[in-house]
Amino acid sequence: ALPEKVKIVEVGPRDGLQNEKTMVPTETKINLIDMLSASGLPVIEATSFVSPKWVPQMADQVEVMKGIDRKPGVSYPVLTPNLKGFQAAIKAGASEVAIFGAASELFSKKNINCSVDESLQRFDEVMKAAKEFGVPVRGYVSCVLGCPYEGKVAPEKVAHVAKRLYSMGCYEISLGDTIGVGTPGSMSKMLEAVSREVPVNALAVHCHDTYGQALANILVALQMGISVVDSSVAGLGGCPYAQGASGNVATEDVVYMLHGLGIQTGVDLSKLMDAGAFICRTLNRKTNSKVAQATCKL
Ligand code: HMG
Ligand code: MG
Repeated sequence: ALPEKVKIVEVGPRDGLQNEKTMVPTETKINLIDMLSASGLPVIEATSFVSPKWVPQMADQVEVMKGIDRKPGVSYPVLTPNLKGFQAAIKAGASEVAIFGAASELFSKKNINCSVDESLQRFDEVMKAAKEFGVPVRGYVSCVLGCPYEGKVAPEKVAHVAKRLYSMGCYEISLGDTIGVGTPGSMSKMLEAVSREVPVNALAVHCHDTYGQALANILVALQMGISVVDSSVAGLGGCPYAQGASGNVATEDVVYMLHGLGIQTGVDLSKLMDAGAFICRTLNRKTNSKVAQATCKL
């Protein structure tokens, strides 16, 4: 059976914008987040507390956190790869953070410059500090359906890392198809393995749409009991450490599908499309959302 309600985690301001080659003005990021808040989204990942040498686009994280209008009831998590990032995030007023690991050794090395085991040690430090501050922590596992450097990734490896993050105290584990190579076939096999280790109500899917399979993969996840979906307005994005990977599945397209299935999201599609139109106009680019491109209306 499908869930009655789905929580959408909007990752456009972070996962979407982190990959932009030219610097997006801080004010544009703030306006985007505020428009997304107005659309009824419950979670908006706002920025990353990562090294500006690694991801220059996120160097204005403090100004973004200070500039946004925080709508009551909406959470604005930020990425924190280590204790340094966590401390900076707390200082900037973050009230939720996310740690991000990988199911593949080479991706871990390229993305956060350490092995999977080392990353788990760093995350443990973040976790301990977060407990002291009463800050909830979300955990990501990247490359769950394939790695740009290692190719196929075994479902058991994903299950192992997901379990470690969950046992550390992450309240939710987001399973990232970082390079968008999964199909409903590989997605269901991976989810079967992971749900043996982590309760399905603590799982989320994070699909990139490189091969055009994202909506189909999400539908399979919903059928398997998952009710948290990550997506990016206008399908913005890619990953700086995964060349050729396209953006996340577009939030507009996810919302359209979910509403068509009779599943509640709390999101006003037309306001969401305003936010998508705003960022595409400002970045001078075409939207990756099919729904936003469509001109025939029911
Ligand atoms: P490192 O170079 O190994 O770090 O980077 P280090 O500990 O050796 O320190 C080197 C320098 O970085 C020092 O500064 C530190 O202070 C500084 P220096 O003394 O040279 O001036 N530093 C920091 N600065 C700011 N914030 C910090 C921080 N930590 C150390 N938190 C590090 C390690 C993790 C920092 C680096 O590799 C990094 O920032 N990586 C981030 C990569 C990233 O953001 N990737 C994109 C997000 S992941 C993703 O998109 C996938 C996802 O969407 C899921 C999916 O799609 O599957 C989540
Ligand atoms: Mg991503």
